[in-house]
Amino acid sequence: MNATQEQLKVKFEQALVAAFGAEYAGVDPILVSASNPRFGDYQANVALSLSKKLGQQPRAIASTIVEKLDVSEICEPPEIAGPGFINLKLKTAYIEVQLNAIQADPRLGVPPTKTPKREIVDFSSPNIAKEMHVGHLRSTIIGDSIARILEFQGHDVLRLNHVGDWGTQFGMLITYLREVYPEALTTANALNIGDLVSFYRQAKQRFDTDDTFQETARQEVVRLQAGAEDTLHAWKLLCEQSRHEFQVIYDLLDINLTERGESFYNPLLPGIVEDLEKSGLLVENQGAKCVFLEGFTNREGEPLPLIVQKSDGGYNYATTDLAALRYRIQQDEAKRIIYVTDVGQANHFAQVFQVARKAGWIPDDVELVHVPFGLVLGEDGKRYRTRSSDTVPLRDLLDEAIARTHTELVARLKEEEREETEEFINKVAEVVGISAVKYADLSQNRTSNYIFSYDKMLDLKGNTAPYMLYAYARIQGISRKGGINLGNLGNNTKVLLQHETELALAKYLLQLDEVLSTVEQDLLPHRLCEYLYELSKKFNHFYDRNQGVRVLDAEEPLRTSRLVLCDLTAKTLKLGLSLLGIQVLERM
Ligand code: ARG
Repeated sequence: MNATQEQLKVKFEQALVAAFGAEYAGVDPILVSASNPRFGDYQANVALSLSKKLGQQPRAIASTIVEKLDVSEICEPPEIAGPGFINLKLKTAYIEVQLNAIQADPRLGVPPTKTPKREIVDFSSPNIAKEMHVGHLRSTIIGDSIARILEFQGHDVLRLNHVGDWGTQFGMLITYLREVYPEALTTANALNIGDLVSFYRQAKQRFDTDDTFQETARQEVVRLQAGAEDTLHAWKLLCEQSRHEFQVIYDLLDINLTERGESFYNPLLPGIVEDLEKSGLLVENQGAKCVFLEGFTNREGEPLPLIVQKSDGGYNYATTDLAALRYRIQQDEAKRIIYVTDVGQANHFAQVFQVARKAGWIPDDVELVHVPFGLVLGEDGKRYRTRSSDTVPLRDLLDEAIARTHTELVARLKEEEREETEEFINKVAEVVGISAVKYADLSQNRTSNYIFSYDKMLDLKGNTAPYMLYAYARIQGISRKGGINLGNLGNNTKVLLQHETELALAKYLLQLDEVLSTVEQDLLPHRLCEYLYELSKKFNHFYDRNQGVRVLDAEEPLRTSRLVLCDLTAKTLKLGLSLLGIQVLERM
């Protein structure tokens, strides 16, 4: 709900009380945006909802409400339509005042939340000794944007990287490296991630085919868990190596994360099993300790167990998540915990949440949310892979986006007969290339699968990063052309709205807060992308020679007023894009 809706709500409350008595104070006016701008801006459906209770026709109720409703400062006289809708059209003068007010506000009229909370966003979370893949890229991009939006709304956000840095994979890898490349276990930087990944594959193959190897690897895990010095040292080196590689990607993407990997929770795992035992939830099943789940069955229709401790004493991914959950509630005091992973882990989280709830570990005021996303597909509709059917190294993927942007940019500059420095070209290619990858991911409803296409994401037309960045740069171009510093227009300039394209743009500019509070709730960043895309379209109409208005060659005071609208559009784009993790360019 935005500020205007909130004000209207207060007015409705007063009218309802005046019309029907004090017990109607809390009744929801059911205020929604008008479906068609011809009917105005908002529509209140409260008359229909009260019909039964009051035993009157909705139209009659509507007119009683309207009689008592004083919205003259905000709206034109309300109109009753259809079965009893109350249509409200904002007064132009009211919109002008609102725009004047947000001009000087760095938050552009978006108030910080009245209820700041500690929130955790668990995202990215790749696995040590394995390569970060496109799924992790999605998690990184989506999680970062969600975190940025929540931070902007004023929440206290902890961005956690739950890296997979513990478990059997290290037993395998260390055993294998002891054999083939022992220096890697004692010397820093002896391996790069490519080597690490291929050693990991070879180790896995040995593990699957060689019993003796398997046994040694198991013992190595035990040694690791027991804290044997040489194994622990080797483990640390391997983690360090991977971390280094992950950081390259994070730097390129401008991502901030606090690493708190699975190993962090290792000492807490026995306590989890103990407490589940105490609460009577634990069942022994063929030597494994498990909790039976409701609503999850195997193919035979029998209830499924969540195994928290295997018969060999080892713990599972789920056990660590239970420990993490408890830690985040008790120590971090999180009130909402958001997990950004592919939809394939939906069951995992549903099960972990269920067990934690049953154990009584989730207080009523704590919300647990799995934020799932779909697969990354190639243009052929299959899982996105390289030709040799390996996963695509992220570094290569991002480099390719930058390289393609570079090529296109050089061609465009030649066409436009523009001379630019090498430095300018490289900077633009990097920003546009990275933004294109991010925006392509964020602009789709995350729950669907997403088709990775360089051609689409780099298209200058359509809902893409280059289009949005171009819209921003174009506005900066207006100020350059007019020799005006948009920032110096002064905060007292009055906005005047005459033309319908001006009014449409102005109203849309005032909707940013509504969009952001929606995303804060449903955690769907594509809504913000849609808003920004629609905003640039509205701007283009406004600035269009034929459909819109004159700007630089308009008479005063219209000229300044319109420049203020340009400035506010640019600021809104910049702020909105920054919340998607996208940096703007003044020129491109
Ligand atoms: N490391 C996991 C993976 O690569 C993702 C971890 C997600 N977070 C969590 N708390 N389980 O699939």
